[in-house]
Amino acid sequence: MGDTLTAVKKDKFFIDTYHFSHNGMNILLDVNNSNFYSVEKIYCDVADYLGNSKTTADEILEKYEAAEVQKVLEDFESFGFLCDEEPDYEKIEIERDKEVINLVMNVSHNCNLRCKYCFAATGSYNGERDLMSREMADKTLDWFLNQAKQSKVLNLNLFGGEPLTNIPLVKYIVNRCQDLEKEYDKKIFITISTNGTILNEELVQLIKDHDIGLQISIDGDKEIHDANRPAANGKSSYDMLAENVEILLKEVDPAGLIPRATVAKGVTDVPRIVNHMLDDMHFKCVALTPALGSYEETSYRQEDLDDYFKRYDELAETFLEKLRSGEEYNIYPFVSEVDAVSKGIRRVYGCGSGLGFASVDIKGNIYPCMRFIGNNDYIIGHVEDGFNEKRQMFFDRTVYNRTECKNCWAKHLCGGACVAVQVECGEPLESYNPLVCQVAKRMAELAMYASSVIAKENLNFDMRKLTVNDFIRRRFS
Ligand SMILES: C[S@@+](CC[C@H](N)C(=O)[O-])C[C@H]1O[C@@H](n2cnc3c(N)ncnc32)[C@H](O)[C@@H]1O
Ligand code: SF4
Ligand code: SF4
Repeated sequence: MGDTLTAVKKDKFFIDTYHFSHNGMNILLDVNNSNFYSVEKIYCDVADYLGNSKTTADEILEKYEAAEVQKVLEDFESFGFLCDEEPDYEKIEIERDKEVINLVMNVSHNCNLRCKYCFAATGSYNGERDLMSREMADKTLDWFLNQAKQSKVLNLNLFGGEPLTNIPLVKYIVNRCQDLEKEYDKKIFITISTNGTILNEELVQLIKDHDIGLQISIDGDKEIHDANRPAANGKSSYDMLAENVEILLKEVDPAGLIPRATVAKGVTDVPRIVNHMLDDMHFKCVALTPALGSYEETSYRQEDLDDYFKRYDELAETFLEKLRSGEEYNIYPFVSEVDAVSKGIRRVYGCGSGLGFASVDIKGNIYPCMRFIGNNDYIIGHVEDGFNEKRQMFFDRTVYNRTECKNCWAKHLCGGACVAVQVECGEPLESYNPLVCQVAKRMAELAMYASSVIAKENLNFDMRKLTVNDFIRRRFS
């Protein structure tokens, strides 16, 4: 058997694999095809041997019977892991539709809060605190609608600063979009990213009448939230938003309300955050993102991340427990990653920034995403003239062109993750941020683990059928 193993290793091509163990489950990934399998440990050990690690054939045969090893080799042949020559992987087409379909529009560079981790420099983006004018909003919408020649459905996110410091413009845009939908024969799905502290009856009516989705920033219970999100006047922003959340959950479709927690340095008890959003506040879902970036005082450190992952594992187990009892547990981005890996996703970009996604500041400058706003090196156009040549950088930033991604096992699951964070930390676009990578890899592993448990136990998980999607379904039906 030793000779067979040596000969197989010498004569055959063994594809690029990665394996890990979680909760007693061993998962083996075909890196280039994104297929993964829940396997016995022997498959991982033989994969290590064939993949040129330091393991020897003798070590494998000391651990396992020859017949077992033979079976693994046969299975590897049938999985397509062992080939006569390097397989031709289906080329991932990078030619993207160059239309922007997701636009983040900054209607205000002002804010009534002073969040300590704010990448937008508490709304000002390190510039003048000002509002977008109606004229600039018109120019932005005209550009958006005109460049999207093929796309029938567009997403417009009103952002800032705090967008609701400019309610007259928000109302104007919402009504203008209604006209534009008819004029251009398109649907425009509007969402607002808000800190939740500003609301009135007229706004509630606007949200209801136009099926507007809200992403509301809430970091957790009052203690966690107020630690990093003080109001400009020093008051508790939790107290300001709690009453509004109650009104919204009563008055508008809760499926259109997404609480988003930015998890700051030193905060790792994510189950506490999730329980607060789902059980105390009664939201239908929750989005969680660790604060990664250049602010030493508030950005995540390695020790936070280690603890965050341990606590996140608990969320994954709760998700599976809920599935077993036929319930939903909608934690984003986890559920969408489970869905993505289950479908064998092969990404070459981490997100759509600069491609199908862009952001416009209050002066009409176009950026690949809102986290680049204020960095002149990354202005990729203006709504009056369209894109400039700098946009091409964002088409070129595939995993194949990025320093760390090229050889990373997670490349097709992660696609290169967020590119804004390392730029914010002074690194070039093609570089990477080690903490961002760790989050991306851990999410990929946890999603593969959950997907394997779902398959093994034949659990019912269909992302499209989640109640949080009712809102989107109704909007587009
Ligand atoms: C910049 S704010 C703008 C919209 C609105 N003012 C709000 O707070 O929701 C958008 C989101 O970015 C989050 N955010 C701000 N700085 C961040 C950082 N350094 N890392 C991760 N998320 C951050 C905020 O918590 C908020 O959820
Ligand atoms: S509310 Fe939003 S824009 Fe304002 S400081 Fe906080 S994160 Fe920044
Ligand atoms: S985990 Fe990091 S290195 Fe790997 S593909 Fe994602 S961004 Fe690139």
